[in-house]
This record gives sequence, C-alpha cells and structure tokens, in this order.
Amino acid sequence: MSMKVRKAVFPAAGLGTRFLPATKAQPKEMLPLVDKPIIQYGVEEAMASGCDQIIIVTGRGKQSIEDHFDVSYELEKMLEERKKTDLLKIVRSISDMIHVAYVRQKEALGLGHAVLMARELVGNEPFAVLLADDVIDARVPCLKQMVDVFNEMQCSVIATQVIEGKAISAYGVLDVKPVSSRFGERLVEIKNMVEKPRFEEAASNLAVVGRYILTPAVFDCLSNIQTGAGGELQLTDGMRLLLKKEKMYAYLYEGKRHDAGDKLGFLKATVEFALKREDLGKPFREYLKGLKL
Ligand code: G1P
Repeated sequence: MSMKVRKAVFPAAGLGTRFLPATKAQPKEMLPLVDKPIIQYGVEEAMASGCDQIIIVTGRGKQSIEDHFDVSYELEKMLEERKKTDLLKIVRSISDMIHVAYVRQKEALGLGHAVLMARELVGNEPFAVLLADDVIDARVPCLKQMVDVFNEMQCSVIATQVIEGKAISAYGVLDVKPVSSRFGERLVEIKNMVEKPRFEEAASNLAVVGRYILTPAVFDCLSNIQTGAGGELQLTDGMRLLLKKEKMYAYLYEGKRHDAGDKLGFLKATVEFALKREDLGKPFREYLKGLKL
C-alpha cells in the first residue's frame, strides 16, 4: 500500500537574527508579507498540497504564532457587532483552517534538532517539512509538485533550485545523477549533500530549498548526527545518513522562491505580492511608477 503525506512540520523556533530589531520581541514567522504572516503562506501551501495536520516547532517568544492560528473570541465578537463581515470571514478562515499541533524546541540547536522534536507527533509515516522563510510563488504549489513525485517514487524528495556563484555557500548543496522518470530532467537522484560548503568545494549549483518530503527513517538518522556547519545540528547531515539507507530525489520545482528571511528578499517579495493583489495592485503600481528612481 502506498504512503500518503498528511503531516507538515514547520520549524519555527529560530532566533531570527537576520531580521533584528524587528524580531527582538516578535517571531520572524509572523512578519507580514502585505497583510499575511509569512508562516501562513506556508500553511496554506501545505493544505493545498493535501496535508491536513500542521505541526509547528516553536520556542520561547513564539506565542503569537499559536494565537494567530487560534480562535480570537474578542476580535470575532467585535467584528460581528460592527457588521464587518468581510474581515470576520478572513479572521475565521484562519482558525477554522486546520488542526495545528505545537511542540517546543527548548534550545535553538539547529534545523535537524527542530525536525527531530516533531518525531512523536509525526509517528511512522512520511511527512513534509516547510521552512516558512522560503516563500514560493507557484501556479501549482511547490509542495504539491513534490507530493506528486513522492506518490510515484515513494522515497524522500527535496526541493532544489539553481543558485549561481558564491551565494551557493549559504545553502545545503546537492551532488546528483540523472534518473529516468516521467518527471523528465526536473527529477534527479541525490548522491550526496553538504550543508553550506565553501564555493570551491560545492559539488554543483543545486541548492536545497526549504521544502522537503521525508520518510520517517530520517528520525533515527537525526538522532545520530553530530554538530555540523555553524555549530548546529543540521537537517542536511541527517539526510546524508538517510541516503545510506534509502534512495532520495531532488526536484527542480516550477515557481519563484523569495527568501523572506532576508531583508532585501523580504522587500522584493512584499513588492511582488502587493503588485499581484486585486485590491492593491493598481494603485501600488501607479505609486511605484511615480517614484523618481
Ligand atoms: C536551511 C538549510 C539549508 C537550505 C536552506 C534553504 O538553511 O539548512 O540546507 O539550503 O535552509 O533556505 P538556513 O537558511 O536556515 O541557514
């Protein structure tokens, strides 16, 4: 019987240092792109890809994420009384969205450690991991594209993207080989992967992007890793151990990724998302055109 991806894990316990001071007292996952917190884009993508259980790995100071996906009685009551039905619909749609479970990562020891915290809630089934910082704008949601691959291959699948030049050193980097499948050149088999290698040592220009579908065997691997790049327990190192036991694939997804965890990436994403909005696009475009740049 084939396995289905029902659960999506969102590591959200990081300190958000790239976005200080905004993230001093506020989780970076709650920074809004136009009017929606970045983590909600990811949660909506997971749901649109068939996941019906969301697991958020949180840490200290992340209460507002839980509040965001919870019912807000006072706000709903006030909007009801003032007959603000449109806003009420928006607010209710978030809390009605889905079942969200939380698990705490007591210390920010790294992405690999964060994913390991979800072990009990995930259990013995394949699951998705989404890094909220990577906001991916795609016709078919990126995770959905990967679920299609998983359903056929029944092996772990990682999203990948070509990154030219020295910037590759900021990513997990893949060493791959071609594979024949109905997904054509977009699907490759992973031979090896290294977290944040030096540019001269990078095996390719294929970077790991923050969307993963993993088999539960990765948990044993993650409980056996040592501190890696940046002094952290790295998911990439856990997946490298998984490679010794199982085949893994990388998928060159169709879509545009924004690094919303980076100030410039966040600004670009804000502009692009605002331009696409029905209610804001036109006046915002006019405003931008009027800027003497
Ligand atoms: C994490 C992963 C890295 C991946 C990147 C994608 O790194 O460790 O392998 O390439 O996300 O955004 P971070 O950006 O948290 O340093």
